[in-house]
Amino acid sequence: MEQVSRKAGSNIVLALDLPLGKPKKLLFQAKKILEAVHPHVCAVKFNHHLTLPLGLFGDLQDLLNQAKGFGLPTIMDCKINDIGSTNQTIAEYYFEAGFDAVTANPFVGWEDGLCPVFNKAKRMNRGVLLLVYMSHKGASEGYGQKIIGEEREKPQFQYRLFAERALKWGAAGAVVGSTYPEKIKELNLVLKEKVPIYSPGIGIQGGNTEITIKNGATYLIVGRAITQAENPLRIAIELKRIAHKSAK
Ligand code: XMP
Repeated sequence: MEQVSRKAGSNIVLALDLPLGKPKKLLFQAKKILEAVHPHVCAVKFNHHLTLPLGLFGDLQDLLNQAKGFGLPTIMDCKINDIGSTNQTIAEYYFEAGFDAVTANPFVGWEDGLCPVFNKAKRMNRGVLLLVYMSHKGASEGYGQKIIGEEREKPQFQYRLFAERALKWGAAGAVVGSTYPEKIKELNLVLKEKVPIYSPGIGIQGGNTEITIKNGATYLIVGRAITQAENPLRIAIELKRIAHKSAK
């Protein structure tokens, strides 16, 4: 990621999300957007928006190959969140399909939870991005809870613990919503630049590019602001420019 980002002069991860549509049309639109914006992004993140209609080993392969042809790493935002054996199968399918990284939810814990996913990723030289504080409004109801126990005397915020786990488990990234810049700042101190922050929520969800970068996010995950724009290329270039300027 770091190398591609440096080479492209961009820290924008394209979330290639499109609204409901016919598979052939979705494939055509997604390929067109990727073709246009690829020099200005450093990775492509996929979600169920395309894996469901196109099929993991079906037409989605066309898009994965296109991204790889452009030298872009690919992330599957599958938010793995089940028991260990199921989690392992999910990760295996995505890695076999060609994804470089998957997202996972730390709420399920390590033992017989995410341990098999991290082990599999390590063996296959892939990455796991851990959700630490999501970008939507209800995030505080889970990630923002104060918890007791966990051999600590004082109550602690759930997301702080998740950031510590991202470090301990060797996550390739921590996902923190751009809609909560104060959390990005706080968690950046916990993660000590050892685990980069990936921040979704720019634009339509209300996150601001400059504020997100200035508070310590390394990568910005941007979907609809680009994919639903009249001119995706213009928006990608503009976001890249603002992010680059803000990082100085
Ligand atoms: P938009 O259109 O809002 O899309 O730019 C953002 C993309 O990122 C996903 N998303 C998240 N993924 N943790 C994640 O792992 C989050 O907190 C989060 N918030 C948004 C969203 O599903 C879409 O693909």
